[in-house]
Amino acid sequence: MTEPAAARPRHIPVLGREVIAWLKPREGGIYVDATFGAGGYSRAILEAGNVSVIGIDRDRTAISAGFDLVDRSNGRLTLVEDRFSNLAEVCSAQGAPSVDGVVMDIGVSSMQLDEAGRGFSFRSEGPLDMRMGQDGPTAADVIAKASEADLANIIYIFGEERHSRAVARAIVAARKDAPITTTRALADLVGKIVRAKPGEIHPATRTFQGLRIFVNQELDELHVALSAAERVLKPGGRLVVVSFHSLEDRIVKNFLNERAKAGGGSRHQPETAQRPPSFAVLTKRPVTAEDDEVSGNPRARSAKLRAAERTDAPAHAATALPGWPTLDTVMRGG
Ligand SMILES: C[S@@+](CC[C@H](N)C(=O)[O-])C[C@H]1O[C@@H](n2cnc3c(N)ncnc32)[C@H](O)[C@@H]1O
Repeated sequence: MTEPAAARPRHIPVLGREVIAWLKPREGGIYVDATFGAGGYSRAILEAGNVSVIGIDRDRTAISAGFDLVDRSNGRLTLVEDRFSNLAEVCSAQGAPSVDGVVMDIGVSSMQLDEAGRGFSFRSEGPLDMRMGQDGPTAADVIAKASEADLANIIYIFGEERHSRAVARAIVAARKDAPITTTRALADLVGKIVRAKPGEIHPATRTFQGLRIFVNQELDELHVALSAAERVLKPGGRLVVVSFHSLEDRIVKNFLNERAKAGGGSRHQPETAQRPPSFAVLTKRPVTAEDDEVSGNPRARSAKLRAAERTDAPAHAATALPGWPTLDTVMRGG
């Protein structure tokens, strides 16, 4: 895709070079960018050859900001506002029930973090929203409604905050006096419970991460989307996933390891009942950013890329979701 240099945005996606190297776009191929964001991966895929891209994002702002790139893509880029757990349905609706590659760049975007009004950051004052999409309860709704036990679980499981119980107790005590509706109010409250030594991350980091992952059901989304990618990828098609913390990376790693080995049968079943591997893992260890990228973009420090190639075996049955707290149960009161 050729375009005037002045029209190029400054956004440089994390591990962008590596994503393209592992995706290996092939001429005429159809690729899914399941986390369009600022369009960094989509742009790079379009530039890699005569290919087309279906970009998905649940954030309407990201989709609207991408229309310019759609206009300049000569019909090769289509954007869809949806969750990536619906990836298979999105591809079918776009007339592409099977595709040559899927990329995912999991988590929150810098555009979302930087906009105080979205409520993702404890560094700026904003409403306690944290939704990537337009639907569902906000973080303030969860803080107002969830039981103390559910809050502690959310902050512990998704935020990996070891002071989760004390934080949950303080939230429940504070909300009796006044609703907690802003990022600053929550950050100040957590700051009284969790003490950070100089040089450590902000005391509210883990609580905010836990709430954000819960509000957006991020781990469930990832879990479902990996199986959806397995169903839509053609034999030889590639899956490339970049994640930013251990909770996400573990889901990707376990999924790929499980799919890369034969299984499903048991010693009581005939050999033919065994499922052959549906993926071959390409990255024995996760690929990480080079020092030059990390020095230009500190966020790249925690990025991990895993890639796999689809075999011609049928997709395995989707695995059950772990028993994490869900929005439905928590907002209904258990
Ligand atoms: C880290 S950013 C992606 C950045 C992108 N690779 C780029 O180069 O600009 C993640 C994006 O994925 C979107 N996202 C996160 N979870 C999603 C989901 N379950 N379904 C669809 N989009 C999602 C977010 O709204 C955000 O825009």
